[in-house]
Amino acid sequence: SSQLKELSESEGGLLDRRMFFDPEIYKVELERVFARSWSFLCHESQLAKAGDFFSTYIGADAVVVTRQRDGSISAVLNSCRHRGMKVCRADWGNAKAFTCTYHGWSYSTDGSLVSVPSEEYAYYNEIDKSKLGLLRVPQVQSYKGLVFGCFDPEAPSLVDFLGDMTYYLDILLDRVDGGTEVISGVHKWKMRGNWKLAAEQFSGDNYHTISSHISVLLSEFPPEAADAFMNIDGLQINPAEGHGVGVMYSPTGAPFSAGSSEAILRWRDETRQESINRLGKERVEGMSWTHANVFPNFSYLHDSSVLRVWMPKSPTEMEAWSWCIVDKKAPQEVKNAWRTQAIRHFSPGGTWEQDDGENWSYCSGAGGQEGVVTRLSKLHVEMGVGHERSHPTLPGKVGHTYSEQNQRSLYRRWAEFMAAESWKDISVPVRTAEVIDRSDMAK
Ligand code: FES
Repeated sequence: SSQLKELSESEGGLLDRRMFFDPEIYKVELERVFARSWSFLCHESQLAKAGDFFSTYIGADAVVVTRQRDGSISAVLNSCRHRGMKVCRADWGNAKAFTCTYHGWSYSTDGSLVSVPSEEYAYYNEIDKSKLGLLRVPQVQSYKGLVFGCFDPEAPSLVDFLGDMTYYLDILLDRVDGGTEVISGVHKWKMRGNWKLAAEQFSGDNYHTISSHISVLLSEFPPEAADAFMNIDGLQINPAEGHGVGVMYSPTGAPFSAGSSEAILRWRDETRQESINRLGKERVEGMSWTHANVFPNFSYLHDSSVLRVWMPKSPTEMEAWSWCIVDKKAPQEVKNAWRTQAIRHFSPGGTWEQDDGENWSYCSGAGGQEGVVTRLSKLHVEMGVGHERSHPTLPGKVGHTYSEQNQRSLYRRWAEFMAAESWKDISVPVRTAEVIDRSDMAK
């Protein structure tokens, strides 16, 4: 654990470059971070009917998430107990059972093994099917439409894991009656770069916008708006160790997201009072909520209506999965506008997205970072050290919008998970904000 502490001396703001390319660290990370954390699986709206399923991953483990006949959601490992073939090769769909295409073992959607071909001749009727079901993800829980899974039965509940992050998630998920849904499938693309580079950027990096995205800023905004963006004021918020949120002050109340269409702005105006009634003034007026990351690798862009998972694929490769999330009760015209905006800006061909992918690629894997001399120098994450403070009303620690406090928190949390033998050694966030119960939502 002392070596791990050295890898992430995040109090002082120095990072050892090995955490972005070392295969041994990557292996431990899959075991100690991903197999213990709550991972985002899908949105409940993707599982509307009994038998609806969605194939995804927790870390490197393939899982399939399914709506059961009793309305519950379960997740199982997508690996046949006979020889390990994937029992579900579709990305999503509806199934009565998952039948392995190799030798035909068939599993019910909750993972129970229900039939084995030639059971009498091949197994003399001696096979105990009750012991050979697909392995289950022991904990599956939802937060206001977002479904998460966790391999560790000792982990705290999802809401406890999120801590005060729920206060900020509500701004996306709970602003109008009826909640949210995702539309138009899932964009997936591969990139060079370690997954942490993307997670940390969405956690707290507003600083890159003025350099990385300058071309798109100048092409999409009038010059005075681009100038204003460069001198923007706002906050980085660290609601609980590991999680991060960014917000910019918006005197007009309008979101800063590039290209928010008339239809979206109109919808926000029409629903403003309802949102204030549900969430209070502070979370609705005068603020433009931008980026966020839930530890370890679930991100979202609030004003751009995009959900993300940064799937680890190797020490220097990740796959981005991207959903467009909308208010369920919004008119179709508004949903179409959100979809267009998400595709235009944050799809694989999106104008903003491509700038980020190139940076991450050169930061690990493609940039010579593994060189024997290069790897000796540590990376600098000291922006705003000593200037973190509490806020009179917002839960969590806050710093200026140009601060790396959220990145430091993410790396401290990462180091805590990496060093811990079990959840007994991992802290559970202290909650200060109340959770608004919407148990009737997103059904
Ligand atoms: Fe699935 Fe043989 S690998 S039935």
